[in-house]
Amino acid sequence: MTEIIINGAGDLERAAKVFLSKIGNHSIIAFYGSMGAGKTTFITALCKMLRVKDIVTSPTFTIVNEYRTQAGRPIYHFDFYRINKLSEAMDIGLYEYFDSDGLCLIEWPEMIEELLPEETLKISILVDDVDTRTLLF
Ligand SMILES: Nc1ncnc2c1ncn2[C@@H]1O[C@H](COP(=O)(O)OP(=O)(O)OP(=O)(O)O)[C@@H](O)[C@H]1O
Ligand SMILES: [Mg+2]
Repeated sequence: MTEIIINGAGDLERAAKVFLSKIGNHSIIAFYGSMGAGKTTFITALCKMLRVKDIVTSPTFTIVNEYRTQAGRPIYHFDFYRINKLSEAMDIGLYEYFDSDGLCLIEWPEMIEELLPEETLKISILVDDVDTRTLLF
């Protein structure tokens, strides 16, 4: 079990760096955590660390947002909070994203639990207090 403690917003950059050094070559990463736990915030920090120039916000009107790292690798940022049926996830071509060379970062993975590949790296974000979070994986 790996644990990374994030001590407030000012510690996100360091935490993202440590996280990236520990994920090996996992390319499908699922972030579990209650509403407001900090999934989008941490994904934004990861993207910043990967030198994504695009604005990183959670997909609101779509299920997936696509960004590109400075090195040209695609990042697919999913938010399944609003889906009603698994077929909605399938319809966007979920497995084409999963099978691609891109890095897939997933919010609300519990909504598509049955569809997650075995190699998915599962991260829990725990809220310790107002500005402290723990990542467990
Ligand atoms: N590591 C952190 N330290 C301090 N505050 C944080 C941290 N992470 C998130 N927050 C704060 O918590 C709030 C919610 O964060 P965020 O939107 O990232 O949550 P979320 O898990 O994506 O929520 P949702 O389930 O709605 O998608 C934001 O106001 C953010 O500033
Ligand atoms: Mg979010």
